[in-house]
Amino acid sequence: MEPLCIAVTTSSRSYTVTLGDGAIERLGPILDDLRLPERRFVVSSPLVWRLHGQRLARTLGASEPILVPDGERSKQLQTVSRVYDALIRSSADRASTLLTFGGGVIGDMAGFAASTYLRGISLVHVPTTLLAQVDSAIGGKVGVNHPLGKNLIGAFYQPHAVIIDPSVLATLPRREFRAGLYEVVKYGMTSSATLFDRIRRERSAIFAKEPAVLMAIISESCRIKADVVSADEREAGPRRILNFGHTAGHALEAVTKYRRYRHGEAVAFGMVVAAELSAARGALARQDQAALADLIASLGPLPPIADIPPSEMIDAMKHDKKMIAGRLLFVLPTAIGGATIVDDVTEKEMRAALKTVGFRG
Ligand SMILES: NC(=O)c1ccc[n+]([C@@H]2O[C@H](COP(=O)([O-])OP(=O)(O)OC[C@H]3O[C@@H](n4cnc5c(N)ncnc54)[C@H](O)[C@@H]3O)[C@@H](O)[C@H]2O)c1
Ligand SMILES: [Zn+2]
Repeated sequence: MEPLCIAVTTSSRSYTVTLGDGAIERLGPILDDLRLPERRFVVSSPLVWRLHGQRLARTLGASEPILVPDGERSKQLQTVSRVYDALIRSSADRASTLLTFGGGVIGDMAGFAASTYLRGISLVHVPTTLLAQVDSAIGGKVGVNHPLGKNLIGAFYQPHAVIIDPSVLATLPRREFRAGLYEVVKYGMTSSATLFDRIRRERSAIFAKEPAVLMAIISESCRIKADVVSADEREAGPRRILNFGHTAGHALEAVTKYRRYRHGEAVAFGMVVAAELSAARGALARQDQAALADLIASLGPLPPIADIPPSEMIDAMKHDKKMIAGRLLFVLPTAIGGATIVDDVTEKEMRAALKTVGFRG
């Protein structure tokens, strides 16, 4: 099967997302075609490298990978420093390409290293989780956490290429896979009724990781992300739509100290909260709200929320990065495949919505 190519065009860089089963076996020639600098350094995690490294090593030649831990707790400057150390020890120069091979943590962290090493070297993302394939590898957000908050240190640094091979998802644990799937639901709900219906219709084929259907949901998601990023690289306008579910989602992650939920799971609750807010205003039909809730419920169990007080959620939202001049931007769905951004959600409405969907404390 010919790989699929999706273009991302931003003012800082234009690049291609190449998608195909077996794409990692063809990585060497793909990079040659793109004329990317020939000294290639791979940053990966011990687990991902053990599972899939050989496939990459064969096509790239005998390069030793730079292996760093990839838990969310490792997503910090100290780990980035280890990548710098390895690059300096190998005398990596401007004519070097850094490839990230792992989930969103490796991509964000090693991407940040590439954006700052020698003021920026070539960067290629080869994402290995569903979340990274449909979301974090495209769009240029790179960075790390600070002890006082998530993703507080970072940059916009578009990659020079993104290579996606859905076959690596075969080894992804079910919970991680589902966490990525909620981001696909996000694309469907905000931007594509077709994608939303596909997840509904082909749920069992998706969970069976059938190549054709995986390719369809990943490529449709990437196309949406690529279009939105091309229209608004720095999230000054339309890109904000993709924060659907993320205001309450981030609050939920923060309140539970990033321990209870995978990011996508927290976003799933966030989408349910936003849909309730919108329906309570009469901006979303109850029927569409129910379709979203049903789809999320059909994808599997989520960790509990019943012990979390709405007041803690509201406090956490007040510290959100999406707060602009004291107003919280909120993405409200208006139909399946459509959403709008508002800045007038009141604390009272928020409290009511949180209670309705099950936050108690
Ligand atoms: N840059 C962006 O625009 C953006 C967008 C969304 C999320 N993110 C960031 O992405 C991170 C989350 O990424 P994630 O969900 O990919 O988590 P992750 O990188 O922590 O990976 C999850 C787990 O899956 C393992 N794994 C990776 N690939 C595997 C494979 N093929 N088979 C088996 N196991 C595999 C990893 O070792 C890890 O244990 C967060 O830090 C988040 O802030 C960034
Ligand atoms: Zn997300």
